[in-house]
Amino acid sequence: MARYLLTVLVALTALLIADPLKLSPITDTDFNPAVVRLEPLRYDVASLDRGNRLSFSERLLEGKLRGPESMAFDPQGKGPYTGINDGTIIKVSDDGQSFETFAWTSTNRSAACGDKLEAEDTCGRVLGLKFHQETGDLWLMDAYFGLMKVGPEGGLATVISNEAEGQRFQFANDLDIASDGCVYFTDTSPRWKRRQFILAFAEGQAEGRLLKYDPATNTTTVLLKGLRFANGVALSSDESFVLVNELSLARIVRYWLKGPTAGSHDVFFDNLPGYPDNIRPDGRGGFWVALHTGRSKVMDSIFYWPSIRSFCFKLPFKPFIWYLVYVGKPIGVILNIDEDGKAQDALIDSLGRVFAAASEVEEHNGKLYLGSVFNPYIGVYDMARDKKGAGADRDWMLERQ
Ligand SMILES: *[C@@H]1O[C@H](CO)[C@@H](O)[C@H](O)[C@H]1NC(C)=O
Ligand SMILES: *[C@@H]1O[C@H](CO)[C@@H](O)[C@H](O)[C@H]1NC(C)=O
Repeated sequence: MARYLLTVLVALTALLIADPLKLSPITDTDFNPAVVRLEPLRYDVASLDRGNRLSFSERLLEGKLRGPESMAFDPQGKGPYTGINDGTIIKVSDDGQSFETFAWTSTNRSAACGDKLEAEDTCGRVLGLKFHQETGDLWLMDAYFGLMKVGPEGGLATVISNEAEGQRFQFANDLDIASDGCVYFTDTSPRWKRRQFILAFAEGQAEGRLLKYDPATNTTTVLLKGLRFANGVALSSDESFVLVNELSLARIVRYWLKGPTAGSHDVFFDNLPGYPDNIRPDGRGGFWVALHTGRSKVMDSIFYWPSIRSFCFKLPFKPFIWYLVYVGKPIGVILNIDEDGKAQDALIDSLGRVFAAASEVEEHNGKLYLGSVFNPYIGVYDMARDKKGAGADRDWMLERQ
């Protein structure tokens, strides 16, 4: 009996892997997982903030929008503006109770926009966005169309750059703007689109790029290549360096723009307790880093063994199943890091009950505006709460200083 069951099990597994009905969304040749080696975590991510402070966040516009990824305030301090899952950029009203459509990136919008993930190819999907403080122009990254710009009145944005060194961006991601008008931005993958982010993440290949667009010459140059899931971008307050998040390696890389080491790069912060999405200046010289979720020993092992991912993704299930199996329910984790790369604070929602899957932290007037590619709301954390005592793990802070 046992032998019979075993034979059936082996046969079924072989059939699933062979996938004669082509149920799996990917084929052997295009999915090629890499070994991703991370330093072990010596602590439980939830212990970094025993006050569990992110769980005291509020939810803005709950149920009225989906997937506000990046937040920006205009030069008059209005907003936030954010790109949502139907491809538009919305502007939140002063009282925070409603919003209006401010801009869009596609000339071909339809009722399907926001309904189906596949529609993103034609509808667009805006990730990182930032206002030029002098001109009032909104610069943005549409994951499908590339680096774009729209005037202070909004409307249809225009494409500024969508390729570099002959390689078109497949997954344009995040940006920052320097005072000379140059834009620093990331191209996450040359093969996977934004809607396939789980495949890009699970593969862990070193194919991401950090780029620079110079409006004076209308040229785009590659500063760094070989990044594993290049994600958030932020300039330092003196613009001597630009940071780029490498999500798959759970680290932040620093690319020097000025000084004797200009043109070289080093690791600014390694072994993050989670997978970094966007990074934003905190206005005091430091940075806020949004982590998609916390790391775990299980996840680290899965990333160390490509054969596990190869096997799983050959089975005829939608990739999102593997997100649920590997990641489970995401939690909320954000970090504050100073300009020397020292940890200053960690705020957690350890069960992801109120705020989880952070994509960006934008500090504005004493509040943290929290974006997420999944959530049907904008998270808002009032920093005035912090004075009441709850706090982050001092041992971890010291170790990371
Ligand atoms: C416009 O979108 C529809 C589907 O929403 C698609 O069939 C059509 O090819 C698109 N046209 C262009 C010019 O992108
Ligand atoms: C900038 O260069 C692109 C091609 O790289 C071109 O399509 C575009 O028209 C140029 N823009 C300006 C303002 O010259």
